[in-house]
Amino acid sequence: MTSRRRLLAASAAMAAGAGGLTAVGATALRNGSSERQENEPAHLRGAAPLPFAQFISFDITSEGARADALHAAHRAIAAIDGGSVAAWLALGEGAFTSGADKPRYLKRMPSFVGDVLDPVQSHGDLLLHITGSSARAVRQAAGQTLHALPRQQVRWRANGTRLETRTEAGRGLSRNPFHFTEGHGNPATAAETAERANVRAGRGEPSWAVGGSYQVIRIIRLATDFWNRDTVHEQERITGRRRNGRWLDGTPSSERAAFATDPHGKITPLDAHVRRAAPNPRTPPPMVRRSYNYDRGSDDQGLIFSCFQSDLEKGFEAVQRRLQGEAMAKYTLTTGGGYFFVPPPGDAWLRALTQK
Ligand code: HEM
Repeated sequence: MTSRRRLLAASAAMAAGAGGLTAVGATALRNGSSERQENEPAHLRGAAPLPFAQFISFDITSEGARADALHAAHRAIAAIDGGSVAAWLALGEGAFTSGADKPRYLKRMPSFVGDVLDPVQSHGDLLLHITGSSARAVRQAAGQTLHALPRQQVRWRANGTRLETRTEAGRGLSRNPFHFTEGHGNPATAAETAERANVRAGRGEPSWAVGGSYQVIRIIRLATDFWNRDTVHEQERITGRRRNGRWLDGTPSSERAAFATDPHGKITPLDAHVRRAAPNPRTPPPMVRRSYNYDRGSDDQGLIFSCFQSDLEKGFEAVQRRLQGEAMAKYTLTTGGGYFFVPPPGDAWLRALTQK
C-alpha cells in the first residue's frame, strides 16, 4: 500500500470510530428540478438530481419482520416523496428470502482490489435514499421516515451535497471534491437514461423487477490534500478531461472523445480515469452516475458515488474492473457502500414479494 493509501485508510478508521457520518456544510448551491411526473421513478427524476441527499441503510431485524419492514418502508417513502423531496427505497440482497424473487445480479457488494470496506458503513437489507432541494427538507424527511420505522435497525447513514449543481446540454452537472466537473459522460435525454438504467423484460429477471434499476453506492474517500499539491495540468492528465469537462485534445465537453487518433496516450494517457472508464467512445458504459460529495470534517471528504444500471455486470462491475490500476487510484480509497435494487414505480412489486 502506498503511503497515501495508508494515510487514507488510517483516517477512515478514525472517522468510523468517532461515530460515523455527520451533515456536510453547504455552500452556494442551486436547486435541481424536482418536477414530478406520473410513473416517473424518483431516482431518475429530472436531468439533475436534487442537491442534498441522505442515504440511510437498514438491517431487517428478524425474518418474521421482513414483510412488515417492506410495507412500512414503502409507506414511509410514499409519505415524503414529492414537492421539494424525491425519495426512494432500494433493496439489498438480505431483503430476499427466495432466490427466485431476487434480481439476478443482486448480491452483497464484493471488496474490489484496493477497497478497505468498513462494515459500519457497508451493505444493508434496505436503503432509503432521500434527496431534496435544501438540507432542511432532507433532514425533515429523514426524521419523519425514521419515526415511521421504529422497529428497523439503522446500519449506516451518509449525507451528501452536489456542489454547483446545474444542467447543461440535457445533463446534470456538479463539481466533485477534486474540483472537476462530473456528469458529462451521462446520457443527455430521459429516453437514454431509462435505456441505461431500467431493467427490461426478457433479460432473465423476475417479472416484478422489470422497470426497476440496480443501484450501486461506493463511499470513496479522496486524498484532497495530496491532490491539491499536484498541478492542474497533472490532475487533468490523471482525469483525462479538463476541470470544466473539455477533452484534453480540445474536443468540447458535450461531445464524445476521439481516442482513436491518440492510440499511445500522448494526449490522453492510457491510464487516465475517463479513458479506463470508457475506452471506446462509441459505446459509453451502460450506467447513469448521480453522485454526491461528502465532508465529515477532519480532512475526511470524498464522493458518495452512486450509479444506476439495468445490468450490474455490464454496468458498474465492468467499469470498476477496468479502473483497476488507473492513475487516480492512489488518491482514492473506497470504505463503504453496497449493492441495492430500486423497485419499479407503484406497489405491484411489494405485493409480489410479500403475498406468498
Ligand atoms: C474515485 C472517485 C471518482 C472521481 C473523482 C471521478 C471523477 C470523474 C470525472 C471528473 C469524470 C469526467 C466527467 C464525467 O463524465 O462525469 C468521470 C467520468 C466517469 N466516471 Fe468517474 N470518478 C470516480 C469514480 C468512478 C467510479 C467508481 C466509476 C465506476 C466504477 C466511475 C465511472 C465513470 C464513468 C463511466 C465516467 C464517464 C466516462 C465517459 O463516458 O466518458 N467513476 N469520473
